[in-house]
Amino acid sequence: MDFKVTPWEVEGEVDYNKLIEQFGTQPLTQELLAEFEKKAGELHLFLKRRIFFSHRDFDWILRIHHEEPFALYTGRGPTGPVHLGHLMPWIFCKYLQDKFNSNFYFQVTDDEKFLFREELSVEDTKEIAYDNILDIIACGFDSKKTFIFIDTEYAKTLYNIAITVAKRVTFSTTRAVFGFENSTNIGMIFFPAIQAVPCFLPSILEKRKAPVLIPAAIDQDNYWRVTRDVAERLGYYKPAAIHNIFLPSLTGPSGKMSASKEETAIFCKDTREQVFTKVMNAFTGGRATIAEQRKFGGNPDICTIYQYYYFLFMPDDDEVEKRHLDCKSGNIMCGPCKAELAERIWTFLEKHQERREKAKDVLEEFMLRD
Ligand code: TYM
Repeated sequence: MDFKVTPWEVEGEVDYNKLIEQFGTQPLTQELLAEFEKKAGELHLFLKRRIFFSHRDFDWILRIHHEEPFALYTGRGPTGPVHLGHLMPWIFCKYLQDKFNSNFYFQVTDDEKFLFREELSVEDTKEIAYDNILDIIACGFDSKKTFIFIDTEYAKTLYNIAITVAKRVTFSTTRAVFGFENSTNIGMIFFPAIQAVPCFLPSILEKRKAPVLIPAAIDQDNYWRVTRDVAERLGYYKPAAIHNIFLPSLTGPSGKMSASKEETAIFCKDTREQVFTKVMNAFTGGRATIAEQRKFGGNPDICTIYQYYYFLFMPDDDEVEKRHLDCKSGNIMCGPCKAELAERIWTFLEKHQERREKAKDVLEEFMLRD
């Protein structure tokens, strides 16, 4: 296999169909999307464009949601500032919360990032956690139905549930699923039990056996495999999941936008100038010269700029199709195409940053404390 997807690294050009096979998930079929459209009244762009492409038990969630409303669960590991890729599952969660009036649980795993990252202290990851929470709130969630918690601060509740999970997961299972080795620190080996907890937290807090749906990129699926193995033995439903593909790196089609590789990412706190510099220097599917581009056209299918339009910044289907054609036929050059994208990204980020500022005053309304 010439690519690798784990919760800690994504390398190479990911073949998402192969991942479905390798991870044993289900593709989001046309029938399932039609079913969703019937219930939600429309298809979100991320579904229409297959940015969410795979799932576990999403069909079951749709079947039972009238009788047994589902809770949403997702999370963030605070290593640095939030980037545009992180926002994708959160934007989708906001859409689902609005459509289905769902309670939304958000785990911030400062413990995970302290344990996994040599250079980060406990104080660092907590500070980054609070900074990242502003970006979460800026996505527009309903404070009455949104519960954000930081692992080290919500530890009393989490730990008591985590040990019930940990007791039923062997080292050999986590080694097989996560690739742990003898040199892995024991905090990391225990950590999957902590990321499993919010799958069960809605049942405990809402005092009902609650179905849970987890929107996240496919890199987090290892955790759900382990959690699903133990869920029924603990008296809970298996968590359902819906997986998105990765927003690509600014530097080209192999690898994802990643907070730990700064050159790959546009961060939510970037200035207008930073956005323009990054976009103007990004990898494109363009030719070496303008003359060649006019003659032979560009290749939008490997182009970062086109992908960003497709994922987030050109919601109109006709417009995005036209851009694809214009690029391939040499009707549009990379310079103006990049400048337009940078402008669109900045328009989006400017509003996000305003909401982020306002979030500082209401942060506590969103926090779950014990
Ligand atoms: P983290 O902080 O690595 O990532 C946060 C969320 O962003 C997704 N993601 C991306 N999506 C699209 N394009 C990208 N380039 C990209 N990079 C990251 C991740 O899949 C994730 O959904 N261990 C977790 C924290 C966590 C969590 C969870 C995540 C705890 N509980 C439940 C999802 C669901 C982490 O470090 O995520």
